[in-house]
Amino acid sequence: MFDFRRTHTCGELRKNDAEQSVTLSGWVHRSRDLGGITFISLRDRYGMTQIIFDPNQDQKLQELASSLKNEWVVSVKGTVKLRAEGMSNKNMPTGDIEILPESLQVLSKAQVPPFVINDDKTEVNEELRLTYRYLDIRKGIILENLKIRHKAMLAIRNILDTNDFLEVQTPILSKSTPEGARDYLVPSRIHPGSFYALPQSPQLYKQLLMIGGLDRYYQIAPCFRDEDLRAERQPEFTQVDIEMSFGTPDEIKSITENILKGIFKACLDLDISAPFEELSYEECMEIYGTDKPDLRFGMPLVRIDDLAKQSDFSVFKSQLEAGGAIKGLCVKGGAELSRKKIDEYTQIVSSFGLKGLAWMKKDDAVYTSSIVKFFSDSLLQQLTNRFEVESGDLLLFAASSESCVNQSLDHLRRHIARERNLITSGTYKFLWVTNFPLFEWDEEENRLNSVHHPFTSPRHEDIELLDQDPLKAKSYSYDIVLNGYEIGGGSQRIHDQKLQDKIFEKLKLSENDLKEKMGFFLEALKYGTPPHLGIALGLDRIAMILCDTENIKDVIAFPKTLNASDLMMKSPSAVTDGQLKELFLKTDTQEISLI
Ligand code: AMO
Ligand code: AMP
Repeated sequence: MFDFRRTHTCGELRKNDAEQSVTLSGWVHRSRDLGGITFISLRDRYGMTQIIFDPNQDQKLQELASSLKNEWVVSVKGTVKLRAEGMSNKNMPTGDIEILPESLQVLSKAQVPPFVINDDKTEVNEELRLTYRYLDIRKGIILENLKIRHKAMLAIRNILDTNDFLEVQTPILSKSTPEGARDYLVPSRIHPGSFYALPQSPQLYKQLLMIGGLDRYYQIAPCFRDEDLRAERQPEFTQVDIEMSFGTPDEIKSITENILKGIFKACLDLDISAPFEELSYEECMEIYGTDKPDLRFGMPLVRIDDLAKQSDFSVFKSQLEAGGAIKGLCVKGGAELSRKKIDEYTQIVSSFGLKGLAWMKKDDAVYTSSIVKFFSDSLLQQLTNRFEVESGDLLLFAASSESCVNQSLDHLRRHIARERNLITSGTYKFLWVTNFPLFEWDEEENRLNSVHHPFTSPRHEDIELLDQDPLKAKSYSYDIVLNGYEIGGGSQRIHDQKLQDKIFEKLKLSENDLKEKMGFFLEALKYGTPPHLGIALGLDRIAMILCDTENIKDVIAFPKTLNASDLMMKSPSAVTDGQLKELFLKTDTQEISLI
């Protein structure tokens, strides 16, 4: 049996290892024949080392070397040699040495891969990459991302461990918890007609652990949500899930800031400063039109309802009369933009239902545009002051319902920032968004819905509003936002059974639903529940930002596509009639949709 052990990795050897006898194993990255001399670049997770076969060596060895193909797995035993004067490769950490082999063993041959395995950024079709994900990982970029993700998890565990948090694993075969998405269900064989739900988050378990006296819990937890996928969403993702008893929101924020500081130090060697900026939900929506603003650039939204009311512009006035809002933003240096460009912006916002985009350009002291005539000099001066307009700037205005104005201008603000290169890469702007409303109105179901989840405590001073005007009640909740991504969220929980019962009642959970779905939890709250609170960070989204990618798939070893399938394993997939029978299931589709 061949001895598979290696003495060093392919990224390890340096000048002062010269003349050592070593054994390296790895993949043939590249093989070149230069006038009878064969150069092999041998690669593994740690790096690359050059092996040189010169014609003075053993004939058989020479022949074997020249037969090697890319991606074959080989083992080489030989001597470390300093490269000749002037032949060092400064771009390679092992570039000062090469290996002069005395034996070579092919451990595994390889077919020609469907794409070239190197870490250059040449675009390979994503479907192909996902179908051969193991080769995509070997290519390098995904592997580097997984290393960063590992470092982040290690930093998280270290920080939480030193702060007395216990890592506890909670069940995957679980019961539905109301996080707002659809559940993934698993049929039970032993209990015909019954189903487990995969956890959308360990929310109820972590609260039960607090009732269990655990005091401080965390888990790097797999979560499952059957929802529409996007570039920053996967059906199966990972939370850094945290809960603590007898704490305050300030404490949990400070622990979260320490975790993020630890992650950024470990992964990027970057010192981020805390405490992070904080805005209430209301302030945040007012200034940015979104609860997850990107603060790496300015361009705040500015309300001009009062000024528009005094103008003669009928579009603005009629929107105000209909109860709408008018906000604008100032594009620095934007007066240079063409009509065509502004039409393009108008087209973009039309997808949010906005009927048009009014604009004004300022050149020297003069405003130009078709709507300037509707504004008096005094109103124009007030616009100048409010938006801090300088010569050469462009003002864009949206008039519609509050939500349409916010959505349109938030989108436009981010679009313009990208287009005009206003975002400096390598900057990280954290923001706490707090005091979310407790409920929102669900038009479809014609009832209240929790903004965070039903276990979130209303603010004490708002408890009376629950009956009077529930949509006005605010909660003790906090989201954390980084560079425009919601990377986490949490809240102070309700620890009083009667209050929890009342919230369920407000959400119109039927008596049956309540008993069946939440009965055990309401029961648990009766047995001495400590005040508790927590947060969950989206590990994948944090990893995306650390790895500088906008695609969540790049930081997950085996991700799903946007239609929730695994192209490599071809899952989900059909099962046998026998399996269905055993589970007492029948499918009701004519055609099984295969991947
Ligand atoms: P929430 O639903 O806000 O809170 O989730 C917490 C964080 O998890 C991440 N996240 C996702 N990441 C990738 N793909 C998804 N589909 C996805 N969904 C959520 C986000 C989000 O901020 N139990 C509560 C937390 C608590 O109250 O302690 C919860 O799950 O970054
Ligand atoms: P109109 O009077 O419809 O020709 O519109 C005059 C200007 O107002 C054009 O630049 C339109 O794009 C703009 N406009 C129309 N509707 C809106 C709206 N809801 N919000 C902002 N601007 C609008």
